[in-house]
Amino acid sequence: MQPRVLVTIPLPASALSLLEKHGTVTSVTGSPDDPRFGAALAEADGILISPRIRVDRDFLGRAPRLRAVSTYSVGLDHIDLAAARERAVAVAHTPVLTDTVADLTIALILALARRMPEAIRIGASPNWQATPMGIDLKGKTLLIVGFGRIGQEVARRALACKMKIAYFDQRAPDVPFEAAVRVPELSKGLAEADFVSLNVDLNASTRHLIGREALACMKPTAFLVNTSRGAVVDQKALTEALREGRIAGAALDVLEQEPPDASDPLLRMSNVIVVPHIGSATVETRQAMLDCALDNLITCLKGEPCRFAVTPQPTPARSAPKE
Ligand code: 8YV
Repeated sequence: MQPRVLVTIPLPASALSLLEKHGTVTSVTGSPDDPRFGAALAEADGILISPRIRVDRDFLGRAPRLRAVSTYSVGLDHIDLAAARERAVAVAHTPVLTDTVADLTIALILALARRMPEAIRIGASPNWQATPMGIDLKGKTLLIVGFGRIGQEVARRALACKMKIAYFDQRAPDVPFEAAVRVPELSKGLAEADFVSLNVDLNASTRHLIGREALACMKPTAFLVNTSRGAVVDQKALTEALREGRIAGAALDVLEQEPPDASDPLLRMSNVIVVPHIGSATVETRQAMLDCALDNLITCLKGEPCRFAVTPQPTPARSAPKE
């Protein structure tokens, strides 16, 4: 019997037909509260999700047959991995967006340094009297918080801009990256940085990692860039620090609440750039992510080793020896 697959993201016809070669596909791209979602989940052997679907114990409890979760994302904070391991559910993600997120990160650093939002507004007006004076990246210190694949690619780009690179990483203290200096204490790294880039996973140890205390360590001329997850930053504390001029500005691709309320003060600050979670949003990378997510799902459902599985994969049930 073909495995039953629940698809929760809109798929192009080509992707759907590929999946339908390997299972019986039900597509419910609306709310998980939709009764059709619950009915399909109860029967699903595999599920294709994005970060909008939270896979916790309750969710897994509604999916008694589930044995594979493929997330169309590199981030995994929307999935209770411990609960998935207990259920022997294979979870796989799509870490194929490293360069794309690193490109956006350096773009946001440059946009802050050269006051691009103001420059674009002035450029589009007949009045060029005002010149938005920026700062050079050359010689400035970039602190990268989280020095994994993306953080290291951000460092490579920043080195090309002649920046000095420091990094703080709770998990991988000593990364073999010559031109970057490891800072053992976050507070010290923050105190010396001109730019701070957040490239960590969101987990219990990084939630609100950048809060009132961390922001107080930063120089009033320093900028914060977040392309990781909104909840790595205590947004209320950031808003206060920006309002009081305790840091110079921020560029945010992610927020604690996405999309934000229209009343969110961050949306109206002249020294804040907010973009709508576009870290992986290029044609090439989203296609690569989709291909990867589909391959992950198909591979896990077949019980074959999956390169991007992040939980132990159940050993496939051995077929009875032929008599
Ligand atoms: C998602 C993301 O890729 O990959 C991640 O972890 O945060 C996003 O870029 C995008 O929202 C598609 O699910």
